[in-house]
Amino acid sequence: MSKPFLLGAGVSAHQTEGGNIMSDWWEFEEGSLVPKGSDASGPAVDHWHRYKEDIDILAEAHLNAFRFSVEWAKIEPVRGRYDQEALQHYRDVLQYCKKKGITTCLTLWHFSLPLWAAKEGGWLSRDVQQHFLHFVETCRDEFQDLVDIWITENEPLVHVYDGYRKAKWPPLRRSRIAMMRALLALAHVHRESYAILHRGKSVREVGVAMSYIHFHTNRRMPWNIRIYAAFRSYLWNHLFFMLTRGTHDMIGVNYYITDRSGSPKPTKTKTDDMGWESHPEGLAHAIRDMSRYGVPIIVTENGIATTDDTLRIDYIREHFDATKRVKDEGIPVNGYFYWSLLDNFEWDKGFSKQFGLIAVDRESMERSPKPSLVALSAMKTVFENKEESQQ
Ligand code: BGC
Repeated sequence: MSKPFLLGAGVSAHQTEGGNIMSDWWEFEEGSLVPKGSDASGPAVDHWHRYKEDIDILAEAHLNAFRFSVEWAKIEPVRGRYDQEALQHYRDVLQYCKKKGITTCLTLWHFSLPLWAAKEGGWLSRDVQQHFLHFVETCRDEFQDLVDIWITENEPLVHVYDGYRKAKWPPLRRSRIAMMRALLALAHVHRESYAILHRGKSVREVGVAMSYIHFHTNRRMPWNIRIYAAFRSYLWNHLFFMLTRGTHDMIGVNYYITDRSGSPKPTKTKTDDMGWESHPEGLAHAIRDMSRYGVPIIVTENGIATTDDTLRIDYIREHFDATKRVKDEGIPVNGYFYWSLLDNFEWDKGFSKQFGLIAVDRESMERSPKPSLVALSAMKTVFENKEESQQ
């Protein structure tokens, strides 16, 4: 019997849990964002204490999968010292998912680092890389009986670009060389993490979540623009895979952006509060393109920042349709995780951008599921019907 299609939603630790005081992001927020009048993550949306309520809402909406991350800065807040309570906390979260029949997709690193690791040079330090690999081994031993899909790294390209080239995120560097070194380091760390995880008896599926950008071209465009787009796509979407061949059991596609540099924008473009165009065909393109690596694809992130939930409903339907289209072409797409389960801390944009299926009152921390959660849940029938008719 084929595995059920995974329909879920995702969050990351730093964006939702709150109190990530031992991380590089906490220091960056206090030192750089707050003085400029932006938000700090603070208690975020208190997912640390309210994870049961959040998972209950997800399960009651008949979603069958949850993607979340563990926070290295909480598990190893001081170099070499593991916090047993933090480890137990994440075991509890995973166990709670299992109790609710939810497939778990665990991300081991989603942008933030322990402050001590950042101070020692972050990913550019061999020693920090070794410490991370030890952390991976610890997570494997603690959680392997409860994790279905392991994501070693979330969007390495976004991190190295924003952190090492654009000086927008920690470690606030502006150097092409440092960016390339960080990318090579993350590729090395992924390869080693893959090997470490697979030494675990019950580890099956390991991959990364890649931020795919659709560099849009068409045949009517001048050849030089098309070549430039292909070159950028190679660097952004494929280079990491060249560096990590053979270490992916699945590919997580995070898709938000179609880049139309060099081509006129369609007249009726819909953009969200991040300024990103809604272009579902870009998701279909991303899945087709990543299927060249011959392993199953899971859409590990796809979402829209908007305060108008009707736009989110349209967005979900259209992007889900695109996913179905490529699945019907025979490409193994095994799941779709909407980003995000909750409105949360959108990195340097603070709490101003709302991606969530659930709104959170940040005073009372009360949760209010939005109609888009029901819309996502309704997508379940699309594949259920198909699976039944195939039997
Ligand atoms: C990241 C998320 C982020 C989302 C929306 C992705 O790049 O993985 O952490 O919230 O995009 O910007």
